[in-house]
Amino acid sequence: MRFAFQIEARDGRARQGRIDTPRGEIRTPAFMPVGTAATVKGMLPEQVRETGADILLGNTYHLMLRPSAERIADLGGLHKFMNWDRPILTDSGGFQVMSLANLRKLTEEGVRFASHVDGSRHMLTPERSMEIQRLLGSDIVMAFDECTPFPADEALARASMELSMRWAQRSREAFGDRPGYALFGIQQGSVYKDLRAESAEALTAIGFDGYAIGGLAVGEGQELMFDVLDYAPGQLPDDKPRYLMGVGKPDDIVGAVQRGVDMFDCVLPTRSGRTGQAWTARGSVNLRNARHRDDPRPLEEGCDCPACTKYSRAYLHHVVRLDEMIAGMLLTWHNLRYYQRLMAGLRGAIATARLDAFVAEFHALRAQGDI
Ligand code: GUN
Ligand code: ZN
Repeated sequence: MRFAFQIEARDGRARQGRIDTPRGEIRTPAFMPVGTAATVKGMLPEQVRETGADILLGNTYHLMLRPSAERIADLGGLHKFMNWDRPILTDSGGFQVMSLANLRKLTEEGVRFASHVDGSRHMLTPERSMEIQRLLGSDIVMAFDECTPFPADEALARASMELSMRWAQRSREAFGDRPGYALFGIQQGSVYKDLRAESAEALTAIGFDGYAIGGLAVGEGQELMFDVLDYAPGQLPDDKPRYLMGVGKPDDIVGAVQRGVDMFDCVLPTRSGRTGQAWTARGSVNLRNARHRDDPRPLEEGCDCPACTKYSRAYLHHVVRLDEMIAGMLLTWHNLRYYQRLMAGLRGAIATARLDAFVAEFHALRAQGDI
């Protein structure tokens, strides 16, 4: 079976559809929980599936350092290693190298760096990134790119984008032809419309199974990000999935779906769950706050997750304050479930041509706040 994307409904620029892969269907717009180190922290894979996730994200950078791609391959691949048999998308490593590694040296060839774990020296190139992602058994492989830092003047953004496009070509050649597996290109160009257009043209000429929008959510703010998303998705092929990397907060996702994005990943629901922060239709709730101490009500009325159906706000407050493991487990579960309910709501709204009303209701509830 080959990798295939079908758009089932449209509402304005928004699309609702499905990606079929040999490891299962991905309903779009999709949110991918982050499983950086071969685990979605605090959750069993079957629980992550119960939240409604069709696909997880893994990281080349982390897994090449520990436990190494070759070790995971020898143990039967990442799916078997982490007990998740559905699709996995892996990021290509460049973004994580630039944010985490030490002694980075970027050249035409790739990036040389020292591990943030033990200082050991490594090199990532488009060719090595493709090899690592193949060894992991990743279903959706990301091209090796440079996430252009923000802010960047136009000359710097151009040089960075052009390097990423040469790396995209090398990624395509190194990936080769692997039926059932997909390679996504990554558009760069910072906040410059003409650079984004050139990047989209270069990627389309190479030809990918999907197209990511990179270099956003790097400190530019929502307004500027939405300005870019007003044109960037439309520069990419209409008939392939579009993936906005590293986004985001619920209102970022809603705005990006309205602008034609199909896939998202973000550490927010999992990471903030481990610090006592919950995401609900009425905005974010800090369970650490003393106002929850005697509150017998569920975290979110109407949520079907275990944190909301089996525990009170008072209990969640208690375990958050004591830094008990169950606090991170329950809040991660709730947050992932909230994100997946939001994605299901968006898909349903697009399918029934009611996206504007859905988005109005989304903003109205948030404006009311947690009560
Ligand atoms: N994650 C968030 N942004 C980016 C990006 O621009 N490139 C890659 N590879 N990963 C990202
Ligand atoms: Zn819940």
